[in-house]
Amino acid sequence: MSDASPSTARIPDEYLPNIDKVLIPAEDIAAKLDELAAEIDRDYAGRELLLVGVLKGAIFVVSDLHRRLGVPAAVDFMAVSSYGSATTSSGVVRILKDLDTQIEGQDVLVVEDIVDSGLTLDYLLKNLRSRRPASVEVLSLLTKPSRREVDLPIRYVGFEVPDVFVVGYGLDFAEHYRGLSDIVTLKPEAYGG
Ligand code: IMP
Repeated sequence: MSDASPSTARIPDEYLPNIDKVLIPAEDIAAKLDELAAEIDRDYAGRELLLVGVLKGAIFVVSDLHRRLGVPAAVDFMAVSSYGSATTSSGVVRILKDLDTQIEGQDVLVVEDIVDSGLTLDYLLKNLRSRRPASVEVLSLLTKPSRREVDLPIRYVGFEVPDVFVVGYGLDFAEHYRGLSDIVTLKPEAYGG
């Protein structure tokens, strides 16, 4: 670990040699979700929300955000897979799990872990809008603006991150690191970068 931080105590020993540094500690994530939840409460006052979490990366964002909301919210999930290499997406998206509920006439908030090229979200938004919800907005905990290939309206953004591969707090590399409380960067040799 090249960047000593109090948060390293929560990282399993097995992962330590692969981790470059803690980019966003758990405490900063929690504080940001407090802010975003307050903003959502103001924006949706008097309405009801349907949170649509994008599996699997958004699991912690959805659960930690949901518990902070003061407006009534239901939750549903979609799982998509985007074809591409291990660390980049191609924009060709397959729905692995669709919503359990109809969204026509509902105020939908799509909850994402990270928007990178934006290709996955672009597909998802087109797909959801075709179901005629009352509104669709997006919350993404992380965004990598320098990588964007399509212009997307992300209403609520947690943190902008540079063009580095990040894991933790729901984000994985080959299903590893998802359970970390912090968002960390990997050494390039740990993901073939
Ligand atoms: P996009 O279609 O390029 O925007 O990619 C979106 C998806 O790629 C995200 O939902 C993540 O699953 C994955 N992804 C993109 N960047 C990262 C990263 O830095 N770490 C982990 N997963 C990532």
